[in-house]
Amino acid sequence: MRDNYRRGLLYVTETPNSLEYKTFARQLMTEPTGVRTLTDADLAQDPNIVFDVDLRSASTMRHLKTLLQRRGLGCRIFLADTETGVVAANARQLGADAIMSSRSRPDAIFRAIEAHFSVTAGDTVKHSIDMGVEALDDSFRSLVEDQVFDTNGMTNTSGIIADAIDQAGIQEWMNAVRGHHVGTFQHCMLVTATASAFARKSGMRRSDVVTITAAGLLHDIGKAAIPLDILDKPGALSTEEMQIMRQHPVAGYDYLVRRSRIAPDTLRSVRSHHEFLDGSGYPDGLSGSQIDDLTRIVTIADVYAALVERRAYKPPKTPLEALSVLTAMAEAGKLELALVREFGRIMVPDSVNHRQAG
Ligand SMILES: [Fe+2]
Ligand SMILES: [Fe+2]
Repeated sequence: MRDNYRRGLLYVTETPNSLEYKTFARQLMTEPTGVRTLTDADLAQDPNIVFDVDLRSASTMRHLKTLLQRRGLGCRIFLADTETGVVAANARQLGADAIMSSRSRPDAIFRAIEAHFSVTAGDTVKHSIDMGVEALDDSFRSLVEDQVFDTNGMTNTSGIIADAIDQAGIQEWMNAVRGHHVGTFQHCMLVTATASAFARKSGMRRSDVVTITAAGLLHDIGKAAIPLDILDKPGALSTEEMQIMRQHPVAGYDYLVRRSRIAPDTLRSVRSHHEFLDGSGYPDGLSGSQIDDLTRIVTIADVYAALVERRAYKPPKTPLEALSVLTAMAEAGKLELALVREFGRIMVPDSVNHRQAG
């Protein structure tokens, strides 16, 4: 459990190049980020942040106050030598969830983050996320062992997740996922949440929302067949590795066709979520009307989630930046432009004001 926090953690220091900080950041398994280079993009998802800065410095305070205005669910921990009145008051002004000794071990820091999430994420959210991860875990294992797939269990879990996202809101749900999970499961859960919230907010009936939620959970099930050193590689894949990676849609589809009672349109979205309207995708090079509506939604959610994810090798994009990538892909003929516009209107409401203002 604790390991899951490590990659969702930002370590902010005024001296990112000093050996002391590098060592500490390595123990936290996170990249040190200098205060002056800290950008809005780093903070847009309100990640968990450990601050090792001098809170008595007026200029540092000014800088951080502007950066940290927006508040989501991330845990903010301030390391301090002494918890003097000034330091504590300033940390609170910056939204501190915990003030800890600068000699705290990484373990203690992870415990504080855990405590933070067990207080803030509601029970419904936590329960539905746990169920989603369990369903993914079971699905991946079933594929590897070629066992019968639990179709009813998947439908049930998808309903619980769809309702929890509807109740709690997509932001709370996605933040809780990012705080607790990494890698492939984090990706699958974020695609699920994105597709589910989009379906619900565009007014679809519940049974369709549940179908789309299940398609999100299942879309990358074929990754269970990909070796972990390729799946979790922190960097670009070689051509050969990419070829192996690209087998996942067919691997997932073949398994589900043989071993599950998943409906045909969902099966198609598992096989075809990397196809593009202009025929440039894989595995079948489908184009235009050969790609159905459900698949088009899963593809958009997949690209969007991958862009806003925090990965070891690239900073996440803000929702607005992710939307502009989707729009460029749509304008290049890869995605349906009307659907991307609808997606932006519903999922990134800022973009509407942005366009009007610009
Ligand atoms: Fe995929
Ligand atoms: Fe994916």
